[in-house]
Amino acid sequence: MTDLNHPLTDDVQLRPATPDDAASLAEALTRSRAYMKRWEPVRPEVFYTPQGQARRLAGLLADRDAGRAMPWVLADADDRVVGAMTLASIELGPFRNARLGYWVDIDRAGQGLATAAVGRVCEDARDRLGLHRVEAGTVVDNAASQRVLAKSGFEVIGTAPRYLHIDGEWRDHRLFQRILHDGPPRR
Ligand SMILES: CC(C)(COP(=O)(O)OP(=O)(O)OC[C@H]1O[C@@H](n2cnc3c(N)ncnc32)[C@H](O)[C@@H]1OP(=O)(O)O)[C@@H](O)C(=O)NCCC(=O)NCCS
Repeated sequence: MTDLNHPLTDDVQLRPATPDDAASLAEALTRSRAYMKRWEPVRPEVFYTPQGQARRLAGLLADRDAGRAMPWVLADADDRVVGAMTLASIELGPFRNARLGYWVDIDRAGQGLATAAVGRVCEDARDRLGLHRVEAGTVVDNAASQRVLAKSGFEVIGTAPRYLHIDGEWRDHRLFQRILHDGPPRR
């Protein structure tokens, strides 16, 4: 275990995503596809295959290497993926901001995993990435996701009409932010 791995429960840890997660990601996303449909963009069929996830991971890991993203997975005791957290659009300078996205496998929903993982991601964003702010947006009626953000110290900053194309339509979103610290930008 590296210091980038964070135990969330007795049998689930948050750890950086690797190229080896592609098949396990495809399995979890396929298992949870119907459950996530309302809150997700319409995906091409290849998205649910190991090949599609391998391509997606390669892009995310290239963004990580360029300092633009940080992708994690939630992995169970057998190292099977049961969720994911991604900080994307990382920007430094005076903004020091990232956008947070996440999902949890249908078989593990309602166990506090998302809330625990969002807390750890925000700690890493502040302490390791030197960010000042994390933002997230949820479809206005995604009550579970909004509850996760509220429990994790995020505040509502507004509602954006027709913000993202989700489940086939441009959906209004509630926008959230969490300010991570009040110190000056790290040099
Ligand atoms: C949103 C999601 C990540 C939550 O993951 P999770 O591990 O189940 O979250 P947690 O267990 O940490 O917390 C969920 C909270 O939402 C609450 N909740 C769940 N369904 C709810 C509903 N329909 N209405 C109101 N609250 C709800 C739970 O009771 C819990 O709150 P509590 O601890 O106060 O009881 C998961 O449901 C998911 O992956 N959804 C599909 C994808 C998605 O919506 N991603 C986010 C896009 S912004």
